[in-house]
Amino acid sequence: MPQPVRIAPSILSADFSKLGEEVRAIDAAGADWIHVDVMDGHFVPNLTIGPAVVKALRPHSAKPFDVHLMIAPVDPFLTAFAEAGADTITVHPEAGPHLHRTIQAIKALGKRAGVSLNPATPAKALDYVLEEVDLVLVMSVNPGFGGQNFLTGQLRKIEAVRKRIDKSGKPIDLEVDGGIDVETARLAVEAGADALVAGTASFRGGPERYADNLRALRG
Ligand code: DX5
Ligand code: ZN
Repeated sequence: MPQPVRIAPSILSADFSKLGEEVRAIDAAGADWIHVDVMDGHFVPNLTIGPAVVKALRPHSAKPFDVHLMIAPVDPFLTAFAEAGADTITVHPEAGPHLHRTIQAIKALGKRAGVSLNPATPAKALDYVLEEVDLVLVMSVNPGFGGQNFLTGQLRKIEAVRKRIDKSGKPIDLEVDGGIDVETARLAVEAGADALVAGTASFRGGPERYADNLRALRG
């Protein structure tokens, strides 16, 4: 069964000119995980941050770093992100030829392994790997940018993944990413999510709003 919802603010929506401060502020405001969106301008049409930034941010929070890799090929970078301080490393099935091997590699590095499903990627992509993973990340927008609208068609996929996880009997987190606000957070949780990524909705209004923003997302 789902656990109480965890909120993972995406630092993509933070003020990049003072990222350390932003991570400390969102941690103090009650973030459960710090979500780090890594983009390569190739797998997705945007470029963000690399392992050096993750390493620089690591001392600013003791909360788990939930690192979402939107890069291909992904395998050559797993060690760098693990050494930089990632706790969970999430990959897309399309980011390499051997998803199972990629998951094994993440676990061999001592990290939690996640698999992320793009809007057009079916829940079926989890066949034969679900029992190996610690987290499934359902994308409720096409990856690449913050501030997009939640794709309500993904609610059926969240429900389908919830069923698969419950059937597995394993404590696998079901995280949803993209377009999360107070209303869509409720829909995602009703569909079975137990962790929510929120960029825009977490960082809106500046640091004095962060605690209220996160509280509102918990419903
Ligand atoms: C999109 C990223 C998301 C994004 C979420 O590719 O994976 O984590 O930053 O941003 P919002 O919450 O603004 O949709
Ligand atoms: Zn993300």
